[in-house]
Amino acid sequence: MTATITAPEFVKHQALIDWVAKIAELTKPAKVEWCDGSEEEYQRLIDLMIANGTMIKLNDEKHPNSYLACSDPSDVARVEDRTFICSQKQEDAGATNNWEEPAAMREKLNGLFDGCMAGRTMYVVPFSMGPLGSHIAHIGIEITDSPYVVVSMKKMARMGKEVYDVLGADGEFVPCVHSVGKPLAAGEKDVTWPCNDDKYIVHYPETREIWSFGSGYGGNALLGKKCLALRIASAMGREQGWLAEHMLILGVTNPQGKKHYIAAAFPSACGKTNFAMLIPPAGYEGWKVETVGDDIAWIKPSEDGKLYAINPEAGFFGVAPGTNTKTNSNCMSTLKSDVIYTNVAVTADGEVWWEGKTKETPANLTNWKGQPHTGEEKASHPNARFTVSAAQCPSIDPEWENPAGVPISAFIFGGRRADTVPLIAEAFDWVDGVYKAATMGSETTAAAVGAQGVVRRDPFAMLPFAGYNMADYFTHWLEMGESVGKKAAAAGNALPKMFQVNWFRRDENGDFVWPGFGQNMRVLQWIIERCEGNANAVHTPIGLVPTYADLNWDQSDFTEAQFAKVTSQDKELWLKELQSHAELFDKLGERMPQALKAHNAKLAADVQAS
Ligand code: GTP
Ligand code: SPV
Ligand code: MN
Repeated sequence: MTATITAPEFVKHQALIDWVAKIAELTKPAKVEWCDGSEEEYQRLIDLMIANGTMIKLNDEKHPNSYLACSDPSDVARVEDRTFICSQKQEDAGATNNWEEPAAMREKLNGLFDGCMAGRTMYVVPFSMGPLGSHIAHIGIEITDSPYVVVSMKKMARMGKEVYDVLGADGEFVPCVHSVGKPLAAGEKDVTWPCNDDKYIVHYPETREIWSFGSGYGGNALLGKKCLALRIASAMGREQGWLAEHMLILGVTNPQGKKHYIAAAFPSACGKTNFAMLIPPAGYEGWKVETVGDDIAWIKPSEDGKLYAINPEAGFFGVAPGTNTKTNSNCMSTLKSDVIYTNVAVTADGEVWWEGKTKETPANLTNWKGQPHTGEEKASHPNARFTVSAAQCPSIDPEWENPAGVPISAFIFGGRRADTVPLIAEAFDWVDGVYKAATMGSETTAAAVGAQGVVRRDPFAMLPFAGYNMADYFTHWLEMGESVGKKAAAAGNALPKMFQVNWFRRDENGDFVWPGFGQNMRVLQWIIERCEGNANAVHTPIGLVPTYADLNWDQSDFTEAQFAKVTSQDKELWLKELQSHAELFDKLGERMPQALKAHNAKLAADVQAS
């Protein structure tokens, strides 16, 4: 292939065309296809993948227009140890990110990408994160040799040729290069899920470029999502005075019609999608919860000191296992049609199934590895996912595409902790809230390759997603609190309140004590009443907490004794916890803000004295 490339008429950006030509010259695909985002294109690529064996079509009555792809068993989740932030200086990537010198990384990647698309089609995928043309949106162009990525990007982002109209002849875009890393020799038959054992998910935050090699899976391959909308965007946000966060956004309306928007950061597979689509339980007639986003929030301050959030995505790439009509009926309705499933099991008549979908396991299941399900292994992979347009969600908020965003009343931070952290605590102030978020611990889940169920520090649920030094990220949050707080005070507004939650406390038998899901509404009600100044709280060394009587237990059988179990604060466990916060802060090095270190010492003294 030569460097001359013919772009369609809708592409008017010469620098972009030159870049595509350069990447084609390097990767040597059999052909280049400029995607337009049309339905015809989507269906053609789906049909191609069905013909290749990458996908199967599901039962058209049970799952209209829906498909299943099962990945290579080695390519099922994000690969954090293969994810790199390549800033010029290592300290700008910080202690929590893998780093390599950019020039050395470029050389390595040039080697890997040389000829890596041989025998494949190279797709050029234009997309906008955020409503098309909105001043807060950012445009990316993903070059990929994976048709699975193309069809997934159509659901997850605003993808299509309209993006080129916004881009014009010289608009800015984030160049994203992706390859599954499996060139095909002439006549070689393709595998159903091409990928490479050698994986690199590389970000250059200073020049705002993304290069991904070797994986076809979700967060490794759909580069608009974690790579652009979190790692690159967080670095942009720090420079420009905004925040890119691993947060859901929901709206909650009380029976009097007063509405609040809440943003909540929980680590991967720790409940964002479920909380965002919460259905208030019996006893909550007149309350309404609506969904703005389930994974990523871009948050910008206004002149009057309010924080406005948008969901930069257009779809949900959500965890299937555990999802059912009782835990998340809104999600099940969202999945009625037009879904791409990945790594779930399928019945003989083309119906999908995953652990927790129904009580009974259906007979004649084929597991995600394509083998008969015997019950020895899980039928669906624990990180099996659905990909679906957000517009299909029955609880989608009327404002979800408002380019101005929605004003945030409270931030919630929540990890998956079997002990120590209580069901709910309110931060004393912004600094204490930043501290709570910065020191969040959570058990690792199947969303990333590696050991599961191990408690690790996951600051702001951003450990795998911060595109720069984590200590600088804390400083950015502290500074936002100061600058936005001043503007807010001048305009008679208040900064959002901050809260810590834990849905995952376990009892002696290892069972969850808190029922979770819809019942989380009781905690959410207390949170918004605290924002309005209408609920009681008790002062404890580690935060402001409700008593049993302060929560609404209408039509609940959750007892005071159970409440004591999920809210207890164990002094010894908390001293250990605070010690592990201090260890994190030490690890984060010299740039660690002094205010948070001092706060750690104060909390330790307060707990010790309690
Ligand atoms: P990512 O998409 O990986 O960022 O995850 P997420 O934070 O959106 O997690 P999600 O809502 O998909 O939940 C992950 C798993 O936790 C699912 O199996 C859920 O069923 C389960 N889960 C969610 N909310 C609760 C809860 O309140 N209690 C309990 N016990 N489990 C929950
Ligand atoms: C997560 O792991 O937090 C996800 C899935 O939301 S992925 O897109 O793979 O990152
Ligand atoms: Mn996520």
